[in-house]
Amino acid sequence: MSKNPMQTKFCDLMGIEFPIIAFTHCKDVVASVVNAGGFAVLGEAMHTPDEISADIKWIRSRVGDKPFGIDLVLPASAPGADTLEKLLAGIPEEHKKFAQHIKEKYNVPEPKGAQALHQWGGLNQDIARGQIDVILDEKAPAFVSGLGSPEFMLKAAHERGMKVFGLIGKTRQAKRELEAGVDAIIAQGYDAAGHTGPIGTFSIVPEVAAIAGDVPVIAAGGVTHGRHLAAALCLGAAGVWTGTIWLACRESDNDMIIKEKLIEATSDDTVYSRSVSGFPMRVLKCPWTAEWAKPEAPKTLNSPYQMLLSSDYIQAANDHRRADLMFEAAGQGVAFVKSMKPARQIVFDMVEEALAAFEEITGELPE
Ligand SMILES: Cc1cc2nc3c(=O)[nH]c(=O)nc-3n(C[C@H](O)[C@H](O)[C@H](O)COP(=O)(O)O)c2cc1C
Repeated sequence: MSKNPMQTKFCDLMGIEFPIIAFTHCKDVVASVVNAGGFAVLGEAMHTPDEISADIKWIRSRVGDKPFGIDLVLPASAPGADTLEKLLAGIPEEHKKFAQHIKEKYNVPEPKGAQALHQWGGLNQDIARGQIDVILDEKAPAFVSGLGSPEFMLKAAHERGMKVFGLIGKTRQAKRELEAGVDAIIAQGYDAAGHTGPIGTFSIVPEVAAIAGDVPVIAAGGVTHGRHLAAALCLGAAGVWTGTIWLACRESDNDMIIKEKLIEATSDDTVYSRSVSGFPMRVLKCPWTAEWAKPEAPKTLNSPYQMLLSSDYIQAANDHRRADLMFEAAGQGVAFVKSMKPARQIVFDMVEEALAAFEEITGELPE
C-alpha cells in the first residue's frame, strides 16, 4: 500500500497523526486522546462561560500547542430566556400525569439536586451567546456546532485563526454549511448516540462526501471499531467522530453503573426516542423510554418541555444510583465497548484494527 490511509486531509488540516475525533464531556478524555495523536472535542453545552474558559485553560495546560475543540448547541436551537416557573406552566396536565404514573410504577425517588438543575441544563439563548463569546475570546483551536448552523460566527472565528466544524444529519444541511465555508463537516448517521437524524451512517457519509469537494467530511454514528474507521475512509470520509466509545474508558468520569451497562449492552439495547428531550435521541433503553413508547403514552412535547418533564426522572435515577432506572446516550456500535480501556489505548487499537482491515483486503500494510 503506497499511502498510509490514516494520513487524511483532516489530519493535514489539524496537524494531527490519526483521523480519530473524540466527542466527550470529560476533560481528561480530551487530554488523553489529543496526546495520543487524535483530536478531541469537549461538549460544553451545559456549562457557563466561566466554566468553559477554565476548561480551555485546563486542556491547554495538558496538551500544550496541540489542537482540540469545544462543542456547543447554538442559540437558535436553545430555548428563550423564560423563567423555570413559566416553562413548567407550559407542560400539559396529561403529560404531568403520565410522568407521575411512571414515577409511581417504578418507585422513582425524589431527586436530591437543586431545582435549578431541572432544566434543559439551564441553557437558554442568552447563556448560549455568552458561551460563544468566551470561546472566541479564548481562541479555542476549533469550534463545533452540535445543533444549528455555525454560519453566523464563521467570520469571527476565522479572524481569530480558529477552525469551525458543523455537525449535520441531512445532506441539505451539509450543503448550506459547506457553502457558508465551514472547515470540516461531520456527517452523523442514525446509528449515533444522542440527538441524531433519521438517515443511516452508511448512506449519509458518501452522500455528503460527494458534495464536499476539498472540505474534509468526518463520519459519525456507530463508530466503535477500527473496521468502522476503515469503512468510513472508504465511504469518502477523512476521519471519524466518535462518542459512545469513550463513555466507559478509564479516564471517563461517568458513573461506574453506566460504564457497566455500556459494557454489557449490544446494538439492540439502544432506542431512538423523543421522550428525553423532545428531539429524536438515541439512548440506552430504560423504563422512561419504554413507557413513552407505549400506545397509551401522550405524544412527546417539543423542547424544552419534554426535557423539563424527563429531568426529574433522570436526576433522581442518577442521584440515588438506581441501576434499574439509569441510562445514557449510546450509539448502535455499543457492542464493541467491551472493557474500561484507557483512552490512549482506544486510539491505538482503533488504528491497528483499521490497518488490519485494509491489510486483509489488499494483502499489504501501509509504508
Ligand atoms: C453522552 C453523550 C452526549 C452527547 N451530547 C452531545 C452534545 O452535547 N453535542 C453534540 O454535538 N453531540 C453530542 N453527542 C453526540 C456526539 O457528538 C456524536 O455525534 C455521537 O456520539 C456519535 O455517535 P457514536 O456515539 O455512535 O459514536 C453526545 C453523545 C453522547 C454519547
